[in-house]
Amino acid sequence: PPLSRILNIRELEDVARNVLSFKALAYYASAGGDEITYEENIRAFSRLFFNARVLRPIGNCDPSTSILGFKSRIPIFVSGAALARLGHPLGEVNITRGCGKNDIIQMVSNNASLSFDEIAAARVSPSQPLFFQLYKRKDDKVAAEKIREVENLGYNAIFLTVDAPVAGSRERDIRAPFVLKEQERLAELETRRKDGIEPESPQDASESDEEVDVLGTAGGLLSTTDADLSWEKTIPWLKSVTKLPIVLKGIQCVEDAVLAAEAGVSGIVISNHGGRQLDYSMPSIEVLYRLRKQRPDVFDKLEVYMDGGVRRGTDVVKALCLGAKAVGMGRPFLYAQSAYGEAGVEKLIHLTEREIVLAMRLVGATKVEELVPEMVEQVSWQPV
Ligand code: FNR
Repeated sequence: PPLSRILNIRELEDVARNVLSFKALAYYASAGGDEITYEENIRAFSRLFFNARVLRPIGNCDPSTSILGFKSRIPIFVSGAALARLGHPLGEVNITRGCGKNDIIQMVSNNASLSFDEIAAARVSPSQPLFFQLYKRKDDKVAAEKIREVENLGYNAIFLTVDAPVAGSRERDIRAPFVLKEQERLAELETRRKDGIEPESPQDASESDEEVDVLGTAGGLLSTTDADLSWEKTIPWLKSVTKLPIVLKGIQCVEDAVLAAEAGVSGIVISNHGGRQLDYSMPSIEVLYRLRKQRPDVFDKLEVYMDGGVRRGTDVVKALCLGAKAVGMGRPFLYAQSAYGEAGVEKLIHLTEREIVLAMRLVGATKVEELVPEMVEQVSWQPV
């Protein structure tokens, strides 16, 4: 369908499902185990209802905010997701440009399929902020060099992923391992080649009766990350090698949000990697709900974001009511750029903006600061 007919994120996803190769779709869509957390990330939003306020003037509504001090047109950002070129030849750059034109911030995956340099060069202006998502390598020196590289390229924050010290078991991905073609060239694999580490040999097991490779694409990509990250060592180390703001991506419970605040980082992303890591990890919006209830003090110490299952403007507004400064989206951006390139990314931003503004007005708010916990309530029944 022409882009002008697209009304919502689901429709963008449907188009992408039709244009993506079987293997690319298996990689993008897959999640851990029985994909319960993937499903519940989405469904948990449907247990939160609004206590909408009326008779409030909502003629002028401004959904803008800031993320780590950087202006953001609406309270969303791109959560870093690997291999955007599986879906479209321009890959990550579609996202950089679409976001740059609309004041939305892109977090670039450590496993992007274009170099961090090419992505930085695609910014619409030198002041366009970019965040860098880091998978810390085992070797501290190699990891520090990567950080130096992105600092020099002008990246503005480090999002350290903490929910993937080892790869989750994603069976759809494992069953459909793909060959990384030159077109899908992966910056990380190239640096590994330089380091003398051979990438896993390409294979296609779908037609073979050999045992499947239990690593899959994700397992291959994550095989060089540090499995021994720790509060005691990793955070002080990261602080010692960069002055950029540090955000921990992949906080999955209240206790760890409290530890992050004590560790003095700038922010956390409540996230379970879009359900791709531990299956039965608590849905992200549920963790945010509990954090708001149990430890409201944490929100004064750092910026709290969440991602996982955000598919509607109402989802964004619910998370903001519960204290999130902004929310991330992973798959929606991958699907939008797969389906329509840069124009799809812009469409995703615009339709989400329209939905956010509508929800804010109808809930009775004209600024993000007016979205408060009392406006959202959890119900015990599951709507059909
Ligand atoms: C991801 N995600 C991810 N996270 C990360 O820290 N580094 C990475 O390289 C990737 N790669 C990646 C690839 C693909 C195909 C997906 C779908 C996801 C997780 C991502 O940042 C984010 O947490 C989730 O995508 C959020 O869930 P939704 O929005 O996809 O439901």
